[in-house]
Amino acid sequence: MGTWEAVEKAVKKHDAKLEVHGSPEYGILWIDMISVPRRESGAGREIVRLVEKAAKSEGFTQIRLFAADAGYGRSHGFWDLMGYEFTFDVDEDDDDAWYMHKDLR
Ligand SMILES: CC(C)(COP(=O)(O)OP(=O)(O)OC[C@H]1O[C@@H](n2cnc3c(N)ncnc32)[C@H](O)[C@@H]1OP(=O)(O)O)[C@@H](O)C(=O)NCCC(=O)NCCS
Repeated sequence: MGTWEAVEKAVKKHDAKLEVHGSPEYGILWIDMISVPRRESGAGREIVRLVEKAAKSEGFTQIRLFAADAGYGRSHGFWDLMGYEFTFDVDEDDDDAWYMHKDLR
């Protein structure tokens, strides 16, 4: 089973930034922010997979996030590859268009 300790270790190893919030009783873990200094080197995937494992082991049933543009273009392509889908079926110029989620069950 995954742990938050493993997540922290990976974040440190990659000199990454990660912010999450949520409580297992509500089932939803939000990834508020993830950023890695060296992109496209597998760090993002490794951290996200570990977050999913830790979340699942704590009883979370879904991960949600807002696929922001952190200055390098929108990240939804990355999240799509990680198995996340768009939460709302709205037009791209609607901010709600960029909410994504993945069920952990
Ligand atoms: C988004 C981010 C966390 C991804 O981490 P990463 O270490 O670059 O991603 P990985 O190397 O693990 O990539 C995994 C896959 O996603 C792809 N990918 C990475 N970033 C992508 C992007 N912005 N758009 C489309 N695909 C992307 C990679 O090419 C790779 O594809 P592959 O499996 O076919 O080889 C990182 O690029 C980042 O810090 N970006 C700036 C901050 C940001 O946008 N954060 C997200 C806000 S919600």
